[in-house]
Amino acid sequence: MGSELIYRGHESQPAADAYSPKPGKPWLRVTRPFRYLLREQRLAFVLLGVVIATVFFTFLPSSPKAVTEGYGYYPALQDSMATSRVSSAMMTNWGGSGKVPLGLKRKGLRVLVTGGAGFVGSHLVDRLIARGDSVIVVDNFFTGRKENVVHHFGNPRFEMIRHDVVEPLLVEVDQIYHLACPASPVHYKFNPVKTIKTNVVGTLNMLGLAKRIGARFLLTSTSEVYGDPLQHPQVETYWGNVNPIGVRSCYDEGKRVAETLTMDYHRGAGVEVRIARIFNTYGPRMCIDDGRVVSNFVAQALRKEPMTVYGDGKQTRSFQFVSDLVEGLMRLMEGEHVGPFNLGNPGEFTMLELAEVVKETIDPNARIEFRPNTEDDPHKRKPDITRAKELLGWEPKVSLRKGLPLMVTDFRQRIFGDHIEEAATTTTKSSLD
Ligand SMILES: NC(=O)c1ccc[n+]([C@@H]2O[C@H](COP(=O)([O-])OP(=O)(O)OC[C@H]3O[C@@H](n4cnc5c(N)ncnc54)[C@H](O)[C@@H]3O)[C@@H](O)[C@H]2O)c1
Repeated sequence: MGSELIYRGHESQPAADAYSPKPGKPWLRVTRPFRYLLREQRLAFVLLGVVIATVFFTFLPSSPKAVTEGYGYYPALQDSMATSRVSSAMMTNWGGSGKVPLGLKRKGLRVLVTGGAGFVGSHLVDRLIARGDSVIVVDNFFTGRKENVVHHFGNPRFEMIRHDVVEPLLVEVDQIYHLACPASPVHYKFNPVKTIKTNVVGTLNMLGLAKRIGARFLLTSTSEVYGDPLQHPQVETYWGNVNPIGVRSCYDEGKRVAETLTMDYHRGAGVEVRIARIFNTYGPRMCIDDGRVVSNFVAQALRKEPMTVYGDGKQTRSFQFVSDLVEGLMRLMEGEHVGPFNLGNPGEFTMLELAEVVKETIDPNARIEFRPNTEDDPHKRKPDITRAKELLGWEPKVSLRKGLPLMVTDFRQRIFGDHIEEAATTTTKSSLD
């Protein structure tokens, strides 16, 4: 009774001590995955997946430019730098190299502009923001003003850091435009030790940053590196005639050292660099009363003061409108050549001729007052821009007679507080073409 309910399974099981597992066939373990794949067209699906992945990664957009970029006038560097260039291009920025995971693809570049609250820097910032980039301005406001960039406040693609480039800085960007340095004689002579520190230590810091984060670095050097030139017009291959112990040396020699450092980081550490040698530039947002001749003449003529001409007024300068310079700087940064490149307007004016144009634009009755020339003031300055024309496809477009009225409008407003339309102070291309 109840015998059916009693579990008898153990009776059919072999005794534990009698158990001996059947030896497996080892070749079965190897072939099992293949047999699995071959069943039910699984192989076809695997192959299809491989084909799709290959097509996808082949056509995923990437910019080979950063990787294949050249070294300007230093072709010998091409090979030796190739390795570091490739690795830095791969490791770094999304600014144009490497494949960025889907969904993380950036829209614009991340750009650091040192001295971005200054005259040239603020116009550069306008163009970069308009292009869709994200811009970080670093400035200690020695000569720069928040007013120059205030129209970007609140824009999520704009950041401003009060910082002195003499101190180290760490930010993640794709490109560094290094402009921080007082540019007018009044300002750079004010504290010459600080000026040379800014040029040397500040440039070292920014180059170190570029190396660390793999950013491309552009130095805004100056025509002053040619000193009082013995060659006219000045070509980039000219080494200059500079007084190393004069009152302007903190600036001239400071920029020469900055160029040296830039090339040494390029040759020694594979940093992607660009060097611009800027000639006299003018336009809205220049510092008033900064001792630079165009701003001096305009401010004096507006205030009905005599225009001060140093020496006999026959020394020449070339004057470039700021929008032309910004275009040149951006082409240089995006291009394939290290430089240095002269960026200036070859149209040459004597100081007396400039005074005449200012008179025509502001006040035909404006007077001229002669004063003794300042020490080390170069007699002639005119850029040879053949190299920039050929390799960057750049040349200035705005004549003095067209650019000066835009600057006068801005100065008039700042000196007298006139109401003017915002459009008059900005240098959109449309206003100048
Ligand atoms: N404007 C020209 O005609 C001209 C000509 C040749 C070269 N450059 C070069 O172009 C650059 C810009 O010149 P600019 O005319 O706009 O001059 P600017 O004086 O208007 O601008 C320089 C900016 O750098 C900032 N700055 C100065 N020292 C700094 C420091 N230690 N740390 C952080 N910020 C600092 C200033 O506050 C200012 O905003 C300079 O490097 C200058 O040497 C200009």
